[in-house]
Amino acid sequence: MRPWDKTRLYFSRFMNQFFVIFFIFARNVFAFTDSSESCRLSDDLISSFSRSSYQLFQGCSRSFPVIDSKHCSTNATFESWINSEKSASIQGLLMNVSPEGVTRGVVTASPSRSDPDYFFHWVRDASLVMSAVIDLYEDSLSASRKREYERLLEDFVDFSRKNQLTQNLSGGLGEPKFNVDGTAYSLEWGRPQNDGPALRALTLIRFARIRLAQGAIDWVRVRLYDGLIPTHSVIKSDLEFISHHWREHSFDVWEEVKGQHFYTQMVQRRALLEGAALADDLKDFQAAKWYRKQAQALEAQILKYWDDSRKYIQVTRDDSGGISTKVSGLDVAVILGCLHGYANDDFFSFSDDRVISTADVLRQAFDQLYTINRDSSLGTAIGRYPEDVYDGHSVGVNAGNPWVLATLGYAELYSRIAQDFFRRNQIRVTTLNLPFFQSLDGIQSLGVSLRVGIVFKKGGGIFETLLTLIQKNADLYLKRVQYHSPLSGSLSEQMNRNTGFMQGARDLAWSYASFLTAIQEREKLARLLSPD
Ligand code: NOJ
Ligand code: NOJ
Repeated sequence: MRPWDKTRLYFSRFMNQFFVIFFIFARNVFAFTDSSESCRLSDDLISSFSRSSYQLFQGCSRSFPVIDSKHCSTNATFESWINSEKSASIQGLLMNVSPEGVTRGVVTASPSRSDPDYFFHWVRDASLVMSAVIDLYEDSLSASRKREYERLLEDFVDFSRKNQLTQNLSGGLGEPKFNVDGTAYSLEWGRPQNDGPALRALTLIRFARIRLAQGAIDWVRVRLYDGLIPTHSVIKSDLEFISHHWREHSFDVWEEVKGQHFYTQMVQRRALLEGAALADDLKDFQAAKWYRKQAQALEAQILKYWDDSRKYIQVTRDDSGGISTKVSGLDVAVILGCLHGYANDDFFSFSDDRVISTADVLRQAFDQLYTINRDSSLGTAIGRYPEDVYDGHSVGVNAGNPWVLATLGYAELYSRIAQDFFRRNQIRVTTLNLPFFQSLDGIQSLGVSLRVGIVFKKGGGIFETLLTLIQKNADLYLKRVQYHSPLSGSLSEQMNRNTGFMQGARDLAWSYASFLTAIQEREKLARLLSPD
């Protein structure tokens, strides 16, 4: 290196250090004033400096001892964070839907084009994201905005049909990802992934319902569900595929293990049931019967994942390929399987002992695993599975991190557990759910005596108190994400297990979708618990 280059290098290192020290000072001054305005001010300031200094100031990471994080988690600022994160999530999500320069209808997993390259249309991510777009459509009061969302959904319908007709290496509808010009991805990958057609059908069935309510029955028949064999429509193609191929092995939601999976089978079952209801409405009665019959056959399989000796639902059965390091079989994919696959009946509903027990065992595993979880005043940061080694860029030793969508999934799960108990009008404490109740933050100070066999009925006071406590615990998971997210509200795929900083694919569309569904369930629960 030439002497001048050396001097420049030292100077730039010195300036970086200087900015870091300056920001520690500035951040603390702002923290004392404890207002979101000042937070925004520091955000603006930060944005004009170097990325390395900025990263140190992302969020209020507790790994950074000088910053008094309490200033970021008071209730007032929490509620305002929910609002600002909601806007950031809508924006971040829409940034991935039909972005400039790609075929319309494409939903990129993330705008990141290298390290990692997530600039592809994954059928799973896209379907979950477009389901959130349907929520936005339903919530919107503006006719022009509604029209925009409908346009995005129509493009997604066309692109999905195109995917179905594109020759690919899976040789069927289970191809997991497509290039953004609509061509098949031709490199090696964990394929097929048979959750994709089920998630796509579920989202499109919701869209079909909207269109039917508008009286557009002909449009639905041509574009979504024609009731013909062979079919030319997207939903019917997915339902035919699921109903004839669900017994086949495929790769899991993390694209790593081949076998049968709780997640995949839960979403397949739900798609078949909702598909059957749509088929009935469109007078395709024989098909409806067939889809229901397959859903029933699936139920018998899904029950087998319960591991009675370990007290949790196993993620996979009959592994037949892919990585083999997942010895525990504990995986947040099971929780996601309930969140995405619950069919509004009593099959693995949220207050089911087996679901609650799985959630609690898994939470404890992550509690022990990640350094950031030593801070117990926030909800546990949740990862994919304890043996995970993917750090968002590559694989390494002890490299797995907590994931944003998994942690937000827990917030959503707790809200839905409370809603489900509300629906059942009572809480019965059992051997399986007792540890969950005992582990709730704040349970000690309630002075409720919890023992197996006791039943708390709606209207009795304790029932309501317990549901409110579950609600508060749901918020702790949101606060965990708040704590590690930058002031811009930008969410990546993961949070570093030691520092808490966002890591991996930036602006992951699925992270935003999971924030939006989590707060939607939070609002539903709040309405149940205080109806006025
Ligand atoms: C990319 C996959 O999408 C991810 O799920 C996996 O963990 C890594 N590759 C490592 O295999
Ligand atoms: C890796 C995740 O494991 C997988 O579930 C996801 O579909 C892709 N990343 C794209 O986000």
